[in-house]
Amino acid sequence: MHLFRRRQTRHRDQAPQPVEPQAIDDRVRSTDTPYFLPKDAEEDSRLNFQHRALYAAIGNHYLAPLTPETDTILDVGTGTGIWPVEMSHLFPKAHILGLDVSSTSFQHPSTAAYTFMLGDILHGLPFPDKQFAFVHQRLLVAAIPTAQWPTAIKELIRVTRPGGWIEILEIGVTIKQAGPETTRLLAWMGACSKERGFDMAVVPQLGQMLIEAGIQDVEIHHIPAPLGTWGGHVGAMLKANVLSAFGALKGIYCTQAQMSPAHFDAWVKDVSEEWETLRASYVFHAAYGRRALGA
Ligand SMILES: C[S@@+](CC[C@H](N)C(=O)[O-])C[C@H]1O[C@@H](n2cnc3c(N)ncnc32)[C@H](O)[C@@H]1O
Repeated sequence: MHLFRRRQTRHRDQAPQPVEPQAIDDRVRSTDTPYFLPKDAEEDSRLNFQHRALYAAIGNHYLAPLTPETDTILDVGTGTGIWPVEMSHLFPKAHILGLDVSSTSFQHPSTAAYTFMLGDILHGLPFPDKQFAFVHQRLLVAAIPTAQWPTAIKELIRVTRPGGWIEILEIGVTIKQAGPETTRLLAWMGACSKERGFDMAVVPQLGQMLIEAGIQDVEIHHIPAPLGTWGGHVGAMLKANVLSAFGALKGIYCTQAQMSPAHFDAWVKDVSEEWETLRASYVFHAAYGRRALGA
């Protein structure tokens, strides 16, 4: 039996049924949401690899101080569902719901431990208020336009139970020990994103947004992890993942900025060499906090 309830009444701004992702440049992408990373098998395997790289870098699948009694967990923008599946091993008493605007990536049949549900954070989550003991959202920076973050955060809070935890983890464009080519590439990518309505400067501010929305006991972590084989196993994994993410963005940014893909590839090669010589680190931005008991 599921421990959560679906919203009974149709939300005023409820999302229409999703359109199948379509071939855009050299990749398959969503056409009915602002999300600009691909939705194809290559991206799904990158997401699974990224999950492993994150685990290697951070050492866990979550940061909030959850108790084993945590019984209802929501993962917003769940992707392939690897996070709910692995969390179900850590929280065998919980029911975990993976929600995504598209069902094409979720590779697991629903079980008593975890279920997939369609939903769009930009159109309101399809649940009544105060449903979940833990609401988790990871890596939706290419899905939530900057202006919609405050509303998205309010929606995460709305479905969290009083006393329950909310956690957000994102990547942005912060690389420590970045050389000149890395700095230039990140600025170019940041400008391309901003033109699409996604300002990466929002990412380190998400913890502050939780505080401003009334969340208590907020902890903000900016977590550097080695980027490059200089950093051993973790660094090599992260380098492979970041390069693969750049590849996922290449088609869309190059079309937008009228840069040739070959030029982009050569630039990224120079950049990745800098990571090794300068011993660069990639920074993850995480924040978690608790909905007040009386709220
Ligand atoms: C970069 S992936 C991250 C997946 C997963 N959270 C992880 O960490 O592996 C972003 C996911 O968000 C989903 N997404 C995009 N826009 C969304 C929206 N408006 N509401 C819910 N999910 C969305 C995409 O379909 C994709 O599966």
